[in-house]
Amino acid sequence: MIFRRRNYDESALQNKIISAVQDVLPGNDFDFLEYHDPREGNLLKMNFGKKIKASDVENVVLKLEDKKLYNTRGGISFSEGDNGLFINLSGFTDSPIYTPNPLASAQLLGSEMERYIAIDKYNDHEAGHPGYHEMMKVVLDNTMGAIKKGKQGKVLEIGAGTGNFTRLIGERRAKVDAIEIDPGSAEYIQHKIKAGEIKKTSLIVEDALPWTKKKTAASYDAVVTTFSDHHFSPAKKPEFLKEISRLIKKDGVYVAGDEFLPPHDEKDPAQRVSAQIKYHGMVIEEAFKEGKVELPKLELDALISGLRTTVTFIQQTAPEHKDNEFLVRKGAGNLYNKEGIKLLGELAGRLEQATPTANPEHLDEATITDQRKGFIEIVRNLQKEMEESRRPGLEESLFKGKVGGDYKMTIKQYTQQLKKAGMQAVGFFEGPKAVGSSNDKLDGGTGNQSIILKPEEDHAGGVWVIKATRDRTSEPSKTRS
Ligand SMILES: C[S@@+](CC[C@H](N)C(=O)[O-])C[C@H]1O[C@@H](n2cnc3c(N)ncnc32)[C@H](O)[C@@H]1O
Repeated sequence: MIFRRRNYDESALQNKIISAVQDVLPGNDFDFLEYHDPREGNLLKMNFGKKIKASDVENVVLKLEDKKLYNTRGGISFSEGDNGLFINLSGFTDSPIYTPNPLASAQLLGSEMERYIAIDKYNDHEAGHPGYHEMMKVVLDNTMGAIKKGKQGKVLEIGAGTGNFTRLIGERRAKVDAIEIDPGSAEYIQHKIKAGEIKKTSLIVEDALPWTKKKTAASYDAVVTTFSDHHFSPAKKPEFLKEISRLIKKDGVYVAGDEFLPPHDEKDPAQRVSAQIKYHGMVIEEAFKEGKVELPKLELDALISGLRTTVTFIQQTAPEHKDNEFLVRKGAGNLYNKEGIKLLGELAGRLEQATPTANPEHLDEATITDQRKGFIEIVRNLQKEMEESRRPGLEESLFKGKVGGDYKMTIKQYTQQLKKAGMQAVGFFEGPKAVGSSNDKLDGGTGNQSIILKPEEDHAGGVWVIKATRDRTSEPSKTRS
């Protein structure tokens, strides 16, 4: 493990918090109820025993930030229990999950992945995602296929994360530029480069979009992303894809291995919520049955992040949105989604019934039981949050941080975006399980069969590899549009 873990003094931190809160709300007593969360390990609940005003809550948050007792990598959320108001805080600067970063320039960027997921867990467990290994192989074959036989190629990897895929290209006939916006993830790659685990790779810690704009046209044989393309919002995607199209050589390819949602009308937020629950629910359930603990948790984070990005129930409030931080306000009723509530309930029910078939993480029984209970509770809480979002009065609740950039699309929507960027694509269906209706008659997801993707047709959700080239029928452009 390359991150430094600080020794953590719980009572010292609590005393600092008590004094900060009492500065803002003198005479308002509160108890610390709990200091553990199955996902975060360091959740803190403060119970005021009565309802306090939203403006007071906001002042408490500002004070904690001011005293550097809270950082936005964690999250703050509020819930009302039988005994009063709870403020749930995670990500304290003194806590074990806080990891100061040596990449000084990267500090300025804020972070992407770190905002919603524990990176060490991601690095260790993401490869267990259904379809991930199969996807990597197809991505790799198609990437290397774009490099002339006997020659060294040049590959750009966007959103390299902790370098899971970077390593594979660097071992082959290619030099790699790996770009990653998240300093914590980049630190992993840097460490792996130094240790010789990742070869022939230059790491760039920047936001990919402005960076690609500065780059000379036709610089790469292949541009590649694994599970990263969906971090570029639909608003930015055409620009993103156009830059990729500009950066690849005449016969170059863009290879995207990614997760796609089952067919639905993306313009209807309620349908999008259901599609997200169906897709992530499938991954959570699969992993859960296989006895995995970390992957379902990561996937739950991805689901929650995706739901929040959908902006159906938590609206980003533009004036407060600065420097990659999100201050969001829950709109009463916005989250309320009848089908979503049903789907979450069914998922929790199935998880309760499921018997894991193995114990791949070698955990003791008590830990497994505890962890499993924890994430069934998360699904139930999400369901409850959805149900309760109908109640008036929630408008003033605040949610800060933990909004990841998860903009998964349907294959149809994505193919249309490629077309707009002057690209055409073939797809390789990789998911061991398809989600949603589909006409795909593929060979059980082994990735050997490819299909031409037509912008007007949709396909099942799951893990796909898309190989896109410049549309030969349109004029390739050497200049930026
Ligand atoms: C789900 S991870 C995938 C990581 C890695 N490719 C893998 O397969 O494990 C997505 C990565 O994209 C990165 N990312 C998101 N937006 C980015 C941007 N604008 N520029 C560069 N990287 C970005 C995130 O920080 C994150 O590390």
